[in-house]
Amino acid sequence: MSKTPPEVKELLHLLLTRAYAPYSGFAVAAVVKSRSGRLYGGVNVENAAYPLSRCAEQSATLQMVSAGEQEIVEVWVMSRGKQPATPCGGCRQVLSEFAPSETPVHCLSADGPELHATLGALLPHAFSKQYLDGPETQ
Ligand code: THU
Repeated sequence: MSKTPPEVKELLHLLLTRAYAPYSGFAVAAVVKSRSGRLYGGVNVENAAYPLSRCAEQSATLQMVSAGEQEIVEVWVMSRGKQPATPCGGCRQVLSEFAPSETPVHCLSADGPELHATLGALLPHAFSKQYLDGPETQ
């Protein structure tokens, strides 16, 4: 059974067409579901100054926070190709700011294959705000 509701899949396919990836040619779409149940979508947005490019997962997370929410309960990522791409290391870290380790992360290829994981499996021993407290307060 698919772990992706039809409306989420439809949104991912739509977002994939909106990705701005003229340099890599690799379009990525992401959807995060917040605690309220709302869906926030994002795409990768590249830049002629390459390092300023933004990943899809980060775009979706920024949309959620900008809308006033700060808790992610489920994540979907879609790309094209034989294998579903997993979130890059930076995106795993950005997601972990707002999503607990048990959060399901569904990686889909528009061509079919899926990979299902949790954020904790993708980013074990994540750095988090708990480390920002001095050692004496831990
Ligand atoms: N990309 C994402 O949007 N998310 C990821 O987690 C991996 C990579 C984008 C960045 C760049 O625009 C393109 O994919 C190729 O790396």
